[in-house]
Amino acid sequence: MPLPYGIVTPGKEACLSRWPRLGLPDRLDGKSVLDVGAWDGFFSFEAERRGASRVLATDHFSWSGDGWGTKQGFELARRALDSRVEERDVDVLDLSESTTGRFDIVLFLNVLYHLPNPLLGLERVATVTKELLVLETFVDLLDVPVPAAAYFPGGRMWGFETTWWAPNLAALEAMLADVGFHHVEVKSRVSTRSRAAWAMWNEAKHGIPYERGMQQDWVVIHARKAS
Ligand SMILES: C[S@@+](CC[C@H](N)C(=O)[O-])C[C@H]1O[C@@H](n2cnc3c(N)ncnc32)[C@H](O)[C@@H]1O
Repeated sequence: MPLPYGIVTPGKEACLSRWPRLGLPDRLDGKSVLDVGAWDGFFSFEAERRGASRVLATDHFSWSGDGWGTKQGFELARRALDSRVEERDVDVLDLSESTTGRFDIVLFLNVLYHLPNPLLGLERVATVTKELLVLETFVDLLDVPVPAAAYFPGGRMWGFETTWWAPNLAALEAMLADVGFHHVEVKSRVSTRSRAAWAMWNEAKHGIPYERGMQQDWVVIHARKAS
């Protein structure tokens, strides 16, 4: 995460390079933005930097719940950036108009697959979305021609923790429609080359057949309600 004085925090991934994947305009002037599962808050601070009129970062699992993280990174970045990003400790399943209000743009990035009850999570997210939901998540079973989802018992997908479900694109689209998002567009997918590298790594490390790994992808979806 870039901070003032040329400091860039040595994180696990280069979040800045993920921004173009989201398919958002460069500027978000005048938009209110909710970042659900913000953790260290990179995307909250980036939305603020790009002109959003109001940004609320929410999390619970990694901030004060059973999660793997803490809130220290978020707090440090907020101070260092002299940011006005608001924060609220609220679980995905407790999102509602009365707990957070509604926002023009809702970022729901890499959280859905962590939820044991993804449809319920999407339903809660729909209640706080006014205009656009930006959903980034894992998909699986891409060759299955009907809506279907892979379930990972105990939330353990091949060595990853708290990864419960990966629907295919048809299921994701149907779930989004069922919670009120009728305009759904896939904005980004991973290149075949990167997916192949992922499948080879999972075969070598976890014994998952290559063909099975190639059934997965990591997508960004824009979902809008009927106007
Ligand atoms: C992989 S991180 C993604 C962080 C950030 N949104 C991003 O895309 O870089 C997953 C986030 O989901 C949050 N989360 C919410 N509910 C969760 C749950 N039941 N299990 C795991 N993570 C959960 C975590 O606290 C964490 O901040």
